Amino acid sequence: MKAIVYTEYGSPDVLHLQEVAKPAPKDDEVLVKVYAVSVNAADLHLLRADPFLIRLSSGLLKPKNNILGSDIAGRVEAVGENVKQFKPGDDVFGDISAGGWGGFAEYVCAHEDALVLKPANLSFEEAAAVPMAAVTALQGFRYAGQVRPGQKVLINGASGGVGTFAVQLAKTFGAEVTAVCSTRNLDRARSIGADHVIDYTKEDFARNGQKYDLILATNGDRSISDYRRALSPKGIYVQTGGSMAQMSQAMLQGPWISMTGSQKMGNMGVAKPNQKDLMIMKELLEAGKVKPVIDRCYPLREVADALRYLEEGHAQGKVVITVAQNNQTEPSVVSQSQENMAEMLETSGS
Ligand SMILES: NC(=O)c1ccc[n+]([C@@H]2O[C@H](COP(=O)([O-])OP(=O)(O)OC[C@H]3O[C@@H](n4cnc5c(N)ncnc54)[C@H](OP(=O)(O)O)[C@@H]3O)[C@@H](O)[C@H]2O)c1
Repeated sequence: MKAIVYTEYGSPDVLHLQEVAKPAPKDDEVLVKVYAVSVNAADLHLLRADPFLIRLSSGLLKPKNNILGSDIAGRVEAVGENVKQFKPGDDVFGDISAGGWGGFAEYVCAHEDALVLKPANLSFEEAAAVPMAAVTALQGFRYAGQVRPGQKVLINGASGGVGTFAVQLAKTFGAEVTAVCSTRNLDRARSIGADHVIDYTKEDFARNGQKYDLILATNGDRSISDYRRALSPKGIYVQTGGSMAQMSQAMLQGPWISMTGSQKMGNMGVAKPNQKDLMIMKELLEAGKVKPVIDRCYPLREVADALRYLEEGHAQGKVVITVAQNNQTEPSVVSQSQENMAEMLETSGS
Protein backbone atom coordinates (compact mmCIF):
# COMPACT_ATOMS: atom_id res chain seq x y z
CA MET A 1 0.00 0.00 0.00
CA LYS A 2 1.01 3.65 -0.34
CA ALA A 3 1.86 5.67 2.75
CA ILE A 4 3.55 8.92 3.70
CA VAL A 5 6.59 7.86 5.71
CA TYR A 6 9.15 9.66 7.86
CA THR A 7 12.24 8.00 9.29
CA GLU A 8 13.90 11.08 10.78
CA TYR A 9 12.60 14.16 12.59
CA GLY A 10 12.47 17.38 10.63
CA SER A 11 10.38 19.69 8.47
CA PRO A 12 7.66 18.40 6.12
CA ASP A 13 10.52 17.90 3.60
CA VAL A 14 11.42 14.62 5.33
CA LEU A 15 8.05 13.06 4.41
CA HIS A 16 8.02 10.66 1.47
CA LEU A 17 5.39 8.68 -0.39
CA GLN A 18 6.41 5.01 -0.20
CA GLU A 19 5.15 1.49 -0.80
CA VAL A 20 4.93 -0.27 2.58
CA ALA A 21 3.40 -3.55 3.74
CA LYS A 22 -0.35 -3.47 4.29
CA PRO A 23 -0.93 -3.98 8.03
CA ALA A 24 -2.88 -6.92 9.47
CA PRO A 25 -5.23 -6.36 12.42
CA LYS A 26 -4.45 -7.80 15.85
CA ASP A 27 -7.27 -9.56 17.73
CA ASP A 28 -8.78 -6.31 19.07
CA GLU A 29 -8.13 -4.20 15.97
CA VAL A 30 -9.91 -3.40 12.76
CA LEU A 31 -8.24 -2.86 9.41
CA VAL A 32 -9.58 0.34 7.88
CA LYS A 33 -9.34 1.37 4.24
CA VAL A 34 -8.67 5.08 4.70
CA TYR A 35 -10.71 7.42 2.51
CA ALA A 36 -9.75 10.65 4.25
CA VAL A 37 -7.53 11.87 7.08
CA SER A 38 -7.15 15.38 8.46
CA VAL A 39 -3.96 17.08 9.57
CA ASN A 40 -3.42 18.51 13.05
CA ALA A 41 -0.81 20.53 14.89
CA ALA A 42 -0.02 17.28 16.71
CA ASP A 43 1.31 15.80 13.44
CA LEU A 44 3.72 18.73 13.21
CA HIS A 45 4.84 18.36 16.83
CA LEU A 46 5.71 14.71 16.21
CA LEU A 47 7.26 15.37 12.81
CA ARG A 48 9.58 18.03 14.19
CA ALA A 49 9.97 16.45 17.65
CA ASP A 50 8.95 19.83 19.01
CA PRO A 51 8.94 20.24 21.97
CA PHE A 52 12.14 18.21 22.35
CA LEU A 53 10.77 16.20 25.29
CA ILE A 54 8.23 14.61 22.96
CA ARG A 55 11.13 12.29 22.02
CA LEU A 56 10.75 10.51 25.36
CA SER A 57 7.58 8.92 24.02
CA SER A 58 7.99 9.17 20.24
CA GLY A 59 11.60 7.95 19.97
CA LEU A 60 14.81 9.53 21.25
CA LEU A 61 16.86 9.71 18.04
CA LYS A 62 14.32 8.79 15.38
CA PRO A 63 10.56 8.26 15.30
CA LYS A 64 9.22 4.93 16.58
CA ASN A 65 6.10 5.18 14.43
CA ASN A 66 6.95 6.06 10.85
CA ILE A 67 3.52 7.09 9.63
CA LEU A 68 1.71 10.11 11.08
CA GLY A 69 -1.99 10.93 10.77
CA SER A 70 -4.53 10.52 13.56
CA ASP A 71 -7.97 11.59 12.37
CA ILE A 72 -9.19 8.99 9.92
CA ALA A 73 -12.43 8.21 8.14
CA GLY A 74 -12.77 5.05 6.11
CA ARG A 75 -14.31 1.63 5.63
CA VAL A 76 -13.64 -1.44 7.76
CA GLU A 77 -12.03 -4.08 5.56
CA ALA A 78 -11.25 -6.78 8.13
CA VAL A 79 -11.62 -7.29 11.89
CA GLY A 80 -9.56 -9.13 14.51
CA GLU A 81 -11.19 -12.11 16.18
CA ASN A 82 -12.10 -10.27 19.41
CA VAL A 83 -13.66 -7.24 17.72
CA LYS A 84 -17.30 -6.83 18.73
CA GLN A 85 -18.34 -3.39 17.56
CA PHE A 86 -17.61 -3.42 13.84
CA LYS A 87 -17.80 -5.67 10.80
CA PRO A 88 -16.30 -5.44 7.32
CA GLY A 89 -18.09 -2.82 5.25
CA ASP A 90 -18.82 -0.45 8.19
CA ASP A 91 -17.89 3.18 7.61
CA VAL A 92 -16.03 4.58 10.62
CA PHE A 93 -14.14 7.60 11.84
CA GLY A 94 -11.91 8.29 14.81
CA ASP A 95 -8.72 9.60 16.37
CA ILE A 96 -6.09 6.85 16.39
CA SER A 97 -3.34 8.92 18.06
CA ALA A 98 -3.49 6.85 21.26
CA GLY A 99 -2.75 3.67 19.33
CA GLY A 100 0.20 4.29 17.05
CA TRP A 101 -1.03 6.81 14.45
CA GLY A 102 -0.61 5.68 10.81
CA GLY A 103 -3.47 7.51 9.10
CA PHE A 104 -1.44 8.98 6.21
CA ALA A 105 -1.78 5.68 4.38
CA GLU A 106 -4.19 3.69 2.27
CA TYR A 107 -4.86 1.29 5.16
CA VAL A 108 -4.39 1.44 8.89
CA CYS A 109 -5.12 -0.84 11.84
CA ALA A 110 -6.91 0.77 14.77
CA HIS A 111 -8.19 -0.40 18.13
CA GLU A 112 -11.95 -0.73 17.89
CA ASP A 113 -12.44 1.63 20.86
CA ALA A 114 -10.84 4.47 18.90
CA LEU A 115 -13.60 4.36 16.30
CA VAL A 116 -17.27 5.18 15.92
CA LEU A 117 -19.62 4.61 12.99
CA LYS A 118 -19.38 7.52 10.56
CA PRO A 119 -22.42 9.81 10.43
CA ALA A 120 -24.20 8.88 7.20
CA ASN A 121 -24.82 12.52 6.29
CA LEU A 122 -21.10 13.36 6.25
CA SER A 123 -18.59 12.74 3.49
CA PHE A 124 -15.40 10.92 4.48
CA GLU A 125 -13.54 14.24 4.30
CA GLU A 126 -16.03 15.90 6.64
CA ALA A 127 -15.86 12.98 9.08
CA ALA A 128 -12.04 13.04 9.08
CA ALA A 129 -12.15 16.74 9.97
CA VAL A 130 -13.89 16.03 13.26
CA PRO A 131 -12.12 13.87 15.85
CA MET A 132 -9.20 15.73 17.40
CA ALA A 133 -10.39 19.29 16.81
CA ALA A 134 -13.99 18.75 17.91
CA VAL A 135 -13.10 16.63 20.95
CA THR A 136 -10.56 19.26 22.02
CA ALA A 137 -13.27 21.94 21.88
CA LEU A 138 -15.76 19.68 23.70
CA GLN A 139 -13.28 18.85 26.45
CA GLY A 140 -12.29 22.51 26.73
CA PHE A 141 -15.89 23.38 27.57
CA ARG A 142 -16.12 20.46 29.99
CA TYR A 143 -12.92 21.60 31.72
CA ALA A 144 -14.71 24.90 32.29
CA GLY A 145 -17.63 23.11 33.92
CA GLN A 146 -21.15 23.60 32.72
CA VAL A 147 -21.95 26.00 29.88
CA ARG A 148 -25.38 27.38 30.67
CA PRO A 149 -27.85 28.82 28.18
CA GLY A 150 -27.51 32.57 27.90
CA GLN A 151 -23.94 32.66 29.17
CA LYS A 152 -21.63 35.00 27.32
CA VAL A 153 -18.87 32.94 25.72
CA LEU A 154 -15.90 34.33 23.83
CA ILE A 155 -13.85 32.11 21.52
CA ASN A 156 -10.41 33.37 20.55
CA GLY A 157 -9.06 31.64 17.44
CA ALA A 158 -12.61 31.03 16.24
CA SER A 159 -11.68 30.46 12.60
CA GLY A 160 -9.30 27.51 13.01
CA GLY A 161 -9.85 23.77 13.21
CA VAL A 162 -10.67 23.76 16.93
CA GLY A 163 -12.30 27.21 16.93
CA THR A 164 -14.92 26.43 14.26
CA PHE A 165 -16.10 23.46 16.34
CA ALA A 166 -15.95 25.52 19.54
CA VAL A 167 -18.26 28.21 18.12
CA GLN A 168 -20.82 25.64 17.02
CA LEU A 169 -20.65 23.67 20.27
CA ALA A 170 -21.09 26.81 22.36
CA LYS A 171 -24.19 27.66 20.30
CA THR A 172 -25.48 24.15 20.82
CA PHE A 173 -25.15 24.66 24.57
CA GLY A 174 -27.29 27.77 24.22
CA ALA A 175 -24.56 30.32 24.87
CA GLU A 176 -24.33 33.82 23.42
CA VAL A 177 -21.17 33.47 21.39
CA THR A 178 -18.58 36.06 20.41
CA ALA A 179 -16.02 34.88 17.86
CA VAL A 180 -12.61 36.54 17.61
CA CYS A 181 -11.00 36.22 14.19
CA SER A 182 -9.48 38.35 11.43
CA THR A 183 -11.41 40.29 8.78
CA ARG A 184 -11.53 37.56 6.14
CA ASN A 185 -13.11 35.09 8.58
CA LEU A 186 -15.89 37.27 10.00
CA ASP A 187 -18.61 36.04 7.61
CA ARG A 188 -17.66 32.43 8.16
CA ALA A 189 -17.85 32.91 11.94
CA ARG A 190 -21.34 34.38 11.58
CA SER A 191 -22.38 31.58 9.23
CA ILE A 192 -21.52 28.91 11.81
CA GLY A 193 -23.58 30.66 14.45
CA ALA A 194 -21.54 33.36 16.19
CA ASP A 195 -23.85 36.03 17.60
CA HIS A 196 -21.08 38.64 17.64
CA VAL A 197 -17.75 38.84 15.88
CA ILE A 198 -14.63 40.78 16.80
CA ASP A 199 -12.05 41.46 14.12
CA TYR A 200 -8.80 41.22 16.05
CA THR A 201 -7.03 43.38 13.46
CA LYS A 202 -9.35 46.30 14.34
CA GLU A 203 -10.69 45.77 17.83
CA ASP A 204 -9.22 44.49 21.09
CA PHE A 205 -11.62 42.20 22.96
CA ALA A 206 -9.63 42.80 26.14
CA ARG A 207 -10.12 46.56 26.01
CA ASN A 208 -13.62 47.13 24.67
CA GLY A 209 -15.35 46.97 28.05
CA GLN A 210 -17.20 43.70 27.36
CA LYS A 211 -17.09 40.93 29.99
CA TYR A 212 -17.55 37.23 29.35
CA ASP A 213 -18.65 34.34 31.58
CA LEU A 214 -16.40 31.94 29.71
CA ILE A 215 -13.45 32.49 27.41
CA LEU A 216 -12.11 29.60 25.39
CA ALA A 217 -8.74 30.39 23.86
CA THR A 218 -8.36 27.88 21.05
CA ASN A 219 -5.64 29.96 19.45
CA GLY A 220 -4.03 33.37 19.77
CA ASP A 221 -1.23 35.01 21.65
CA ARG A 222 -2.64 37.14 24.46
CA SER A 223 -1.43 37.57 28.00
CA ILE A 224 -3.34 36.01 30.85
CA SER A 225 -3.98 39.50 32.24
CA ASP A 226 -5.70 40.46 28.96
CA TYR A 227 -7.97 37.44 29.26
CA ARG A 228 -8.56 38.23 32.94
CA ARG A 229 -9.63 41.75 32.10
CA ALA A 230 -12.28 40.41 29.70
CA LEU A 231 -13.69 37.94 32.25
CA SER A 232 -16.69 38.65 34.45
CA PRO A 233 -15.95 38.55 38.22
CA LYS A 234 -16.79 34.83 38.38
CA GLY A 235 -15.75 34.10 34.81
CA ILE A 236 -13.80 31.09 33.61
CA TYR A 237 -10.92 31.08 31.15
CA VAL A 238 -9.81 27.85 29.48
CA GLN A 239 -6.85 27.70 27.15
CA THR A 240 -6.74 24.77 24.73
CA GLY A 241 -4.15 26.08 22.25
CA GLY A 242 -2.26 29.07 20.92
CA SER A 243 1.22 30.45 21.38
CA MET A 244 3.74 28.97 23.80
CA ALA A 245 3.53 32.16 25.92
CA GLN A 246 -0.26 31.93 26.10
CA MET A 247 0.00 28.26 27.03
CA SER A 248 2.66 28.62 29.70
CA GLN A 249 0.91 31.57 31.37
CA ALA A 250 -2.32 29.62 31.59
CA MET A 251 -0.45 26.65 33.02
CA LEU A 252 1.75 28.48 35.49
CA GLN A 253 -0.32 31.50 36.56
CA GLY A 254 -3.81 30.07 36.02
CA PRO A 255 -3.85 27.83 39.12
CA TRP A 256 -2.66 30.69 41.37
CA ILE A 257 -5.28 33.13 40.03
CA SER A 258 -7.94 30.46 40.47
CA MET A 259 -6.90 29.79 44.09
CA THR A 260 -6.70 33.41 45.15
CA GLY A 261 -9.66 35.01 43.36
CA SER A 262 -13.17 34.39 42.13
CA GLN A 263 -12.17 33.86 38.50
CA LYS A 264 -11.00 30.45 37.29
CA MET A 265 -8.19 30.27 34.73
CA GLY A 266 -6.27 27.33 33.36
CA ASN A 267 -4.85 25.20 30.61
CA MET A 268 -6.83 22.16 29.57
CA GLY A 269 -3.79 20.05 28.73
CA VAL A 270 -3.83 17.60 25.88
CA ALA A 271 -7.27 16.39 24.82
CA LYS A 272 -7.96 12.73 25.52
CA PRO A 273 -9.47 10.92 22.56
CA ASN A 274 -12.30 8.65 23.60
CA GLN A 275 -15.27 6.90 22.08
CA LYS A 276 -17.86 8.59 24.34
CA ASP A 277 -16.96 12.09 23.21
CA LEU A 278 -16.81 11.00 19.60
CA MET A 279 -20.31 9.56 20.01
CA ILE A 280 -21.50 12.94 21.28
CA MET A 281 -20.02 14.55 18.20
CA LYS A 282 -21.57 11.91 15.94
CA GLU A 283 -25.02 12.68 17.35
CA LEU A 284 -24.57 16.43 16.95
CA LEU A 285 -23.30 15.95 13.40
CA GLU A 286 -26.17 13.63 12.48
CA ALA A 287 -28.66 16.11 13.91
CA GLY A 288 -27.10 18.84 11.77
CA LYS A 289 -26.26 20.88 14.88
CA VAL A 290 -22.56 20.90 14.09
CA LYS A 291 -21.00 20.88 10.65
CA PRO A 292 -17.28 20.51 9.93
CA VAL A 293 -15.69 23.49 8.24
CA ILE A 294 -13.11 22.40 5.68
CA ASP A 295 -10.62 24.88 4.29
CA ARG A 296 -9.05 22.68 1.62
CA CYS A 297 -8.29 19.09 0.65
CA TYR A 298 -5.02 17.63 -0.64
CA PRO A 299 -4.28 14.23 -2.19
CA LEU A 300 -2.23 11.72 -0.16
CA ARG A 301 1.01 12.47 -2.03
CA GLU A 302 0.75 16.12 -0.91
CA VAL A 303 0.61 15.58 2.86
CA ALA A 304 3.81 17.63 3.20
CA ASP A 305 2.13 20.59 1.46
CA ALA A 306 -0.92 20.22 3.69
CA LEU A 307 1.28 20.33 6.78
CA ARG A 308 3.21 23.34 5.45
CA TYR A 309 -0.07 25.13 4.91
CA LEU A 310 -1.31 24.24 8.41
CA GLU A 311 1.99 25.41 9.86
CA GLU A 312 1.50 28.87 8.37
CA GLY A 313 -1.22 29.23 11.02
CA HIS A 314 -4.02 30.66 8.91
CA ALA A 315 -6.14 27.66 7.96
CA GLN A 316 -9.84 28.52 7.80
CA GLY A 317 -11.26 25.43 9.46
CA LYS A 318 -9.75 22.01 8.84
CA VAL A 319 -7.21 20.81 6.29
CA VAL A 320 -8.00 17.33 4.99
CA ILE A 321 -6.23 14.69 2.91
CA THR A 322 -8.33 12.73 0.41
CA VAL A 323 -6.73 9.29 0.32
CA ALA A 324 -9.29 7.57 -1.91
CA GLN A 325 -12.30 8.97 -3.72
CA ASN A 326 -15.73 7.91 -2.53
CA ASN A 327 -18.79 9.59 -3.91
CA GLN A 328 -21.44 7.45 -2.28
CA THR A 329 -22.14 9.76 0.65
CA GLU A 330 -24.91 12.33 0.65
CA PRO A 331 -23.70 15.87 1.38
CA SER A 332 -24.30 16.95 4.96
CA VAL A 333 -26.94 19.38 6.11
CA VAL A 334 -26.10 22.80 7.54
CA SER A 335 -28.21 23.74 10.50
CA GLN A 336 -27.82 26.26 13.23
CA SER A 337 -30.51 24.86 15.49
CA GLN A 338 -29.73 25.46 19.14
CA GLU A 339 -30.50 23.27 22.06
CA ASN A 340 -29.17 23.08 25.55
CA MET A 341 -26.59 20.32 25.44
CA ALA A 342 -25.27 21.09 28.91
CA GLU A 343 -26.74 17.90 30.35
CA MET A 344 -24.94 15.81 27.77
CA LEU A 345 -21.74 17.70 28.44
CA GLU A 346 -21.99 17.13 32.16
CA THR A 347 -22.88 13.48 32.11
CA SER A 348 -20.59 12.23 29.39
CA GLY A 349 -17.30 12.31 31.34
CA SER A 350 -14.00 12.29 29.49
N1 LIG B 1 -5.13 20.81 23.75
C1 LIG B 1 -5.14 19.97 22.73
O1 LIG B 1 -5.23 18.74 22.90
C2 LIG B 1 -5.07 20.52 21.33
C3 LIG B 1 -5.66 19.81 20.27
C4 LIG B 1 -5.62 20.38 18.99
C5 LIG B 1 -4.96 21.59 18.80
N2 LIG B 1 -4.36 22.20 19.85
C6 LIG B 1 -3.69 23.50 19.69
O2 LIG B 1 -4.72 24.44 19.44
C7 LIG B 1 -4.25 25.48 18.61
C8 LIG B 1 -5.21 25.67 17.47
O3 LIG B 1 -5.35 24.48 16.73
P1 LIG B 1 -6.16 24.52 15.39
O4 LIG B 1 -6.11 23.17 14.80
O5 LIG B 1 -7.46 25.20 15.61
O6 LIG B 1 -5.19 25.50 14.57
P2 LIG B 1 -5.38 26.15 13.15
O7 LIG B 1 -6.55 25.54 12.47
O8 LIG B 1 -4.07 26.06 12.47
O9 LIG B 1 -5.67 27.66 13.51
C9 LIG B 1 -5.58 28.57 12.49
C10 LIG B 1 -6.57 29.67 12.73
O10 LIG B 1 -6.19 30.42 13.87
C11 LIG B 1 -6.41 31.80 13.60
N3 LIG B 1 -5.45 32.64 14.30
C12 LIG B 1 -4.12 32.69 14.11
N4 LIG B 1 -3.56 33.59 14.92
C13 LIG B 1 -4.57 34.14 15.64
C14 LIG B 1 -4.64 35.13 16.65
N5 LIG B 1 -3.54 35.75 17.10
N6 LIG B 1 -5.84 35.43 17.18
C15 LIG B 1 -6.95 34.82 16.77
N7 LIG B 1 -6.96 33.87 15.80
C16 LIG B 1 -5.78 33.53 15.25
C17 LIG B 1 -6.21 31.92 12.12
O11 LIG B 1 -6.98 32.99 11.64
P3 LIG B 1 -6.30 34.24 10.87
O12 LIG B 1 -5.67 33.66 9.64
O13 LIG B 1 -7.44 35.10 10.58
O14 LIG B 1 -5.31 34.84 11.80
C18 LIG B 1 -6.67 30.60 11.56
O15 LIG B 1 -8.02 30.64 11.12
C19 LIG B 1 -2.83 25.09 18.20
O16 LIG B 1 -1.95 25.79 19.05
C20 LIG B 1 -2.76 23.60 18.49
O17 LIG B 1 -1.47 23.17 18.81
C21 LIG B 1 -4.42 21.71 21.11
